Amino acid sequence: MKRFNSSLAFLFLALAAVGCKQKNQNVIRVGEFGSMTGTEATFGISTHRGIKMVIDDVNKAGGINGKQLELISYDEGGKPEEAVTVVTKLIAQDKVDIILGEVASSRSLAAAPIAQRNKVPMISPSSTNPKVTEGRDYVFRVCFTDPFQGKVLARFAREDLKAKRAALLIDKKSDYSVGLADFFRKTFESLGGEIVIEQNYAGGDMDFKGQLTSIKSKNVDVILHSGYYTEVALTMKQAKDLGIKTVFIGGDGWDSPKLSEIGGKAIDGHYFSNHYSVDDQDPRVQDFIKRYKALYKEVPDGLAAMGYDAALVMVDALKRTNGQVGPVFRDALAATKNFPGVTGVITIDENRNASKPAVILKVQGDGSYKFVKRVNP
Ligand code: PHE
Repeated sequence: MKRFNSSLAFLFLALAAVGCKQKNQNVIRVGEFGSMTGTEATFGISTHRGIKMVIDDVNKAGGINGKQLELISYDEGGKPEEAVTVVTKLIAQDKVDIILGEVASSRSLAAAPIAQRNKVPMISPSSTNPKVTEGRDYVFRVCFTDPFQGKVLARFAREDLKAKRAALLIDKKSDYSVGLADFFRKTFESLGGEIVIEQNYAGGDMDFKGQLTSIKSKNVDVILHSGYYTEVALTMKQAKDLGIKTVFIGGDGWDSPKLSEIGGKAIDGHYFSNHYSVDDQDPRVQDFIKRYKALYKEVPDGLAAMGYDAALVMVDALKRTNGQVGPVFRDALAATKNFPGVTGVITIDENRNASKPAVILKVQGDGSYKFVKRVNP
């Protein structure tokens, strides 16, 4: 477990300054946990950048009711066991008031019971598995969920791609991957499609030729790969080597600049669903992209946008409580309505989820995404 710090020296100074104020109870402590290293490192790094933008903006503008926000971030390397360790530490040792995280559903599922037990409000920017928030009145998310995402992908496969026969490629270690494939199957079959073959792997695997050879023999119209970007990119590369021309589709887990770095030209022409599109001409979105690019020298991916929105929703609720935390803050969060984020308008429903549109993006060989369509819930 490692406390994660941006490398710039001035940030350490800023943290030190905030640390002094902490003694005056004049600070709101925000804990963050994420995968800053490992095969899903871009998830954690992008999310952190989005969150940090909001925290810095708020602090520069004088804080909330005079209180500064202190961000305490830990890297759990993408491991659920480590997520348990760092979230316990955030609560017991750092005494955070609010927790932001995680991206991956398996890590949010590992941490959520701890946040709930200690009544520390937790906001997941982008975990989409339905179980994350279920039965936990202190656990929220600002993204859509996988029953919706699975439906969007199944309809797209059936109605837009006219696919009848589908293959599933599932990471059995990931709650997200298993759930998304399940929800896809339900709608795809209800629309008259057929799941001809299901193949499994475990996150971290690097060789998918066996699964791909089995899939190749079945003559399918589409392959749903419900994993994360590293394995997705490796699979596409190996599929190309095996002469497989079938189109791949997948969920938000594909979203990373690494998809193209690892997959090269093999990623061209495949489709995935996501939370936002850089082509969205809404000035709010374009302004966010411009500011993010100026700070980090790259185009923000969906994770950065979701991190930004999670932090914005937190700040909005804090403003409504005048900087008070605890149960009052939990209630304010639950009352979030029509909040204009960069990933859409966010209303927290009675199950602490957000109902928002998804976008379908077509991956290009140069690593950019082409906007295909927006699908409303
Ligand atoms: N939705 C994924 C999960 O729940 C995480 C993710 C979100 C990955 C957005 C990429 C982009 O596991």
